Amino acid sequence: MTDPRTIVSPAAAPAGRIGTGFVWGAATSAFQVEGAVRADGRGLSIWDTFSHRPGAIRDGRTADIAADHYHRYADDVALMADLGLNAYRFSIAWPRIQPTGTGKVEPRGLDFYRRLVDALLEHGIEPWPTLYHWDLPQPLEDAGGWPVRATVDAFTEYAAIVHEALGDRVTNWTTVNEPWCAAFQGYASGTQAPGRTEPAASVAAAHHLLLAHGRASQVMRAQRPGNRYGIALNLYAVAPHTDAPEDADAARRVDGLQNRLFLDPVLRGSYPDDVLADLGPLVGDDLIRDGDLATIAGTDMLGVNYYSRHTVSGLIPPEPGRASEWAGSEHVRTVPAGLPITHMGWDIDADGLAGLLLRLHREYPAVPLYVMENGAAFDDTVTQDGAIHDADRVRYLEAHLAAVRTAVSRGVPLRGYFVWALLDNFEWAEGYGPRFGLVYVDFVTQRRVPKDSARWYAGVIAASRTGPGHN
Ligand code: FCB
Repeated sequence: MTDPRTIVSPAAAPAGRIGTGFVWGAATSAFQVEGAVRADGRGLSIWDTFSHRPGAIRDGRTADIAADHYHRYADDVALMADLGLNAYRFSIAWPRIQPTGTGKVEPRGLDFYRRLVDALLEHGIEPWPTLYHWDLPQPLEDAGGWPVRATVDAFTEYAAIVHEALGDRVTNWTTVNEPWCAAFQGYASGTQAPGRTEPAASVAAAHHLLLAHGRASQVMRAQRPGNRYGIALNLYAVAPHTDAPEDADAARRVDGLQNRLFLDPVLRGSYPDDVLADLGPLVGDDLIRDGDLATIAGTDMLGVNYYSRHTVSGLIPPEPGRASEWAGSEHVRTVPAGLPITHMGWDIDADGLAGLLLRLHREYPAVPLYVMENGAAFDDTVTQDGAIHDADRVRYLEAHLAAVRTAVSRGVPLRGYFVWALLDNFEWAEGYGPRFGLVYVDFVTQRRVPKDSARWYAGVIAASRTGPGHN
């Protein structure tokens, strides 16, 4: 196992060359942008329920309308084409496809994604759908949610339905987005839907989300062996706050829960022993069954979602009265590192991305990597000329793309990069305060205004097509 300290600051390397086949995209997720929550037979998800709970969302707002992407997708695709994107990562809302989570299929839901995919393809933009970006149909949560094994069966059925409908035109499939968040923030800290604070349930959820990835990949691969199936993990650079052994242990634990608990089973077919030991009795006797790890193992590609680093301590007591997201390591907390931060309060550490990518290359079997999310929220303001001069976002993206180039120049098989996000959107429990978009959304009029960062990104993509050496 690596000492997490070694993964945060790689030595500087010359800019790497990115070839013409590189995927340049931007990302969104269904619940955060679509709105139209009652349209065309859509059922309710755990995020509908959670976001309507008083006090759950910081600004008290819901995603009932969000960026109205459901109705405005055609204009949004035209906007993507205008920026020169060659890929769009979006998610499919399970409750639009199966309003109750199992059984009956809603054809109007499938039709929406058929229209979206067709519009993308007409503009030469590759669709990169994600099957699960956190919007579990509420009836499945009522039956126990991700801590229950039957949810894996339901997800597999849903994946097969969507893949059957779109698999002829869509090649690159992501099963599950950020199982860490869905499991530990959904079921341990309760800061995300469904808002439960049951550590053992969160561990069961993590295993079942991984199993859902494996089972759905198997079923889809059998339908169309030529397509590619992957999972998107939110991975972090992790550093101890001080040299104290307690902080080093905290870094090992957080690296374990946040990174290795997901990377090891997917890429090596085993759970890390030290993490299982930390979790102890939270791992139910009957949870990990024979064959599960073989099912989870093996992926055609890995999505790396990178935003920040965690500086952690085992010595500074966690804030009282808040349920921890670190199941089994509740004494650990993250501490400010004194780095510049984004509007989310997240530390900005572009070197951490290079270090992470190099680490993946060094420690795990080679698999094509894609940065499936990277971006930042800043306090964007519309100036008198009607523009959004988001220089801080451009700086953030520039620094992280430099990290991408460093990794590529050192042989990391990184094949694509997606900015989070295409549009300003509903940032989960934070509501509409943090704006992550390349494109500004006025949530009253739904007018879209590309920010300076969108123009800058369009320039990066254009230069990669025409520049010397396709750099
Ligand atoms: C990631 C989520 C994405 C978005 C960004 C800011 O964890 O996958 O939906 O909220 O954070």
